Amino acid sequence: MLDMPHKPEPTAERSPGLIHTLGVLRRMVRNPMDAWPSGVYTEDFVRSRLLGHMTLYVCAPELVQQVLVDDADSFIKAEPMRRALEPALGQGILTAEGTRWRIQRRVAAPVFRPATVNGFLPAMIGAARAMGEAWSRLAPGSTIDAGDDMMRLTFDIIVETMLSGRGSIDVARVEHSMRDFLESTGWLAALSAIHAPTWTPFPGKWRAARAHLYLRDMVTARIAERRRTGERRDDLLSLMLDATDPETGLGLDDRDVADNLLTFIAAGHETTALALTWTFYLLSRHPDIEQRVLAEIAAVTGGAPLEAADVGSLTYTRQVISESMRVYPPVAMIVRQPNRRLEVGGVTITPDDNVFIPIYAIHHHAKLWAEPERFDPERFAPEAIKARHRYAYLPFAAGPRICIGMGFALLEAAAILGTLLPAFRLSAAPGFVPTPKLRVTMRPAEGMPLRIEPRS
Ligand code: HEM
Repeated sequence: MLDMPHKPEPTAERSPGLIHTLGVLRRMVRNPMDAWPSGVYTEDFVRSRLLGHMTLYVCAPELVQQVLVDDADSFIKAEPMRRALEPALGQGILTAEGTRWRIQRRVAAPVFRPATVNGFLPAMIGAARAMGEAWSRLAPGSTIDAGDDMMRLTFDIIVETMLSGRGSIDVARVEHSMRDFLESTGWLAALSAIHAPTWTPFPGKWRAARAHLYLRDMVTARIAERRRTGERRDDLLSLMLDATDPETGLGLDDRDVADNLLTFIAAGHETTALALTWTFYLLSRHPDIEQRVLAEIAAVTGGAPLEAADVGSLTYTRQVISESMRVYPPVAMIVRQPNRRLEVGGVTITPDDNVFIPIYAIHHHAKLWAEPERFDPERFAPEAIKARHRYAYLPFAAGPRICIGMGFALLEAAAILGTLLPAFRLSAAPGFVPTPKLRVTMRPAEGMPLRIEPRS
């Protein structure tokens, strides 16, 4: 059995004629990973041209370091990404630049200090147990969509920890709206790549607009309620409403707060849900590794339900999660645009060009990983990590714009796996091969149908 049977079908590098351009755009809308040139899996960098604009795909860890870390000030988030995300997320921490970004990052930082994040563990475990209770009511042998269930679970956790609970939020509608919005991003990015005006129609545009409106109304109502009652909680919402930047004395207005709540809900639940979804799938295909995870959990908990204090000791489980995010990185690509002329890998790039960091391809790169398709958590043993270039592995990106929720996500994934895996066996149907599809995040195109049985 192949470990990672699906391989995206990268575009052969050819001369940039009209037919080729149309082919690339079609692939971009369908699944942007299929529009990457084949060299991204073998070369240090690849140059590609579309309608007169250059895209530099950067794969060598040294060059990734230059773009994301050493010369980070010379890059902004690129137009295709901004155009895909800004309609829903406005100018929040994920999409803003310069001073606006710096203030928001400083304001949010206290919520993500290790001590605060550890304090979220009981909420994470509580939500995972509730999911376990729902699963135990299913007939043994039922099929669940693990992707949908993980999405619901991580959504509950993000609203509990960032907004102190879901209150009157219609969770099903939020999820639906998030999906409609993400579906539109393929078109938005492709239209941006050909510099089409923002009013250009595309399938699903109105559905996406309705979704943005609903999501924004939901968080705006929540902000108004907090302002009206003056209630203080230990959550991101209270922090943002009270915040003033120590250097500038500036606060965040309600629009900034709304942009950020939407950003944290979007960035903070779907990514972790996907990491877990892919992990359940990989474990179902690797029973020996699954047994090792179960043995570790049993040794740490003594067979009792997982508690907050146990999570830090799940070292092998964390290795498994890390390796799963190598094979299937939830964020499979990030995009940057230079704000000045500079050289990367000997290539001169200008503000007209885009730099793509194809994380999925870097994680499967022939020069960086032995047998890249093989699922092998030993790659994340401490010695193996030390022996590797730090920027060969980028699930959370790197540099000043590294994921602010990294510690949160790793703890959450271990808490959920440690709670659910000992109680349930999840298995994929023989022959089922999920197709990774890029929609800002990397989802299984067919969903993730898994058969579920209690272990005892
Ligand atoms: C496995 C789960 C996660 C993965 C793989 C992931 C991945 C990433 C990546 C790759 C970026 C950088 C994007 C770019 O530079 O273009 C990012 C940024 C970000 N992530 Fe995460 N993330 C995860 C979980 C979370 C969680 C749980 C939260 C919040 C609770 C969060 C909040 C954010 C925010 C706010 C940013 C923007 C940071 C900035 O620009 O300063 N993420 N994430």
